[in-house]
Amino acid sequence: MGMSQDIAKVLVSEGDIRERIAALGKQISADYKGREPLFVGVLKGCFIFMADLVRACDIKCTVDFMVVSSYGAGTVSSGAVEIVKDLSQDIAGRDIIIVEDILDSGNTLSYLEKIMTARNPASIRIVTLMDKPERRTADVKADYVGFTIPDAFVVGYGLDFDQRYRNLPYIGVLKPEVYS
Ligand code: PRP
Repeated sequence: MGMSQDIAKVLVSEGDIRERIAALGKQISADYKGREPLFVGVLKGCFIFMADLVRACDIKCTVDFMVVSSYGAGTVSSGAVEIVKDLSQDIAGRDIIIVEDILDSGNTLSYLEKIMTARNPASIRIVTLMDKPERRTADVKADYVGFTIPDAFVVGYGLDFDQRYRNLPYIGVLKPEVYS
């Protein structure tokens, strides 16, 4: 079975994503001119956005990844965050750009921001492809946002439901009958 029949509507099209990431890349390149940031991707959701974002940036940079997991596989984040795989390097003195696919309750990023700050980087900024401000419970803000979206069940472009749909090339709203 294909994926598209499970999608109620396209929320952000491929073309709109491409354009927005190009703009984010330009902005980040200008902001970090003369510096060499370390992009820290938060797996798995970031993998497609980050691949596009770093290619839209015309600056010297390096990349690393973390795997974190919020407890529970449900549709609502439970709060606790576990580091499944940590960075493979010391970040002291580095300019860190944390890359996320979505900022939802904010639990994941507020936790990550805290543990990264304790490692004494030169700076930390957050870039997220999508921001769902309506759902925020933790005190965290992204410095760069691709799209501010409503509180709908979105999948695609890295985002999953039950590990599926990450490979949709656009951001879609899942049909309720798929997850209920
Ligand atoms: C998603 C997403 C963020 C987090 C955002 O990850 O990639 O890391 O949830 O939600 P929050 O703001 O409520 O913390 P998920 O735990 O689904 O894992 P994944 O990246 O492997 O899909």
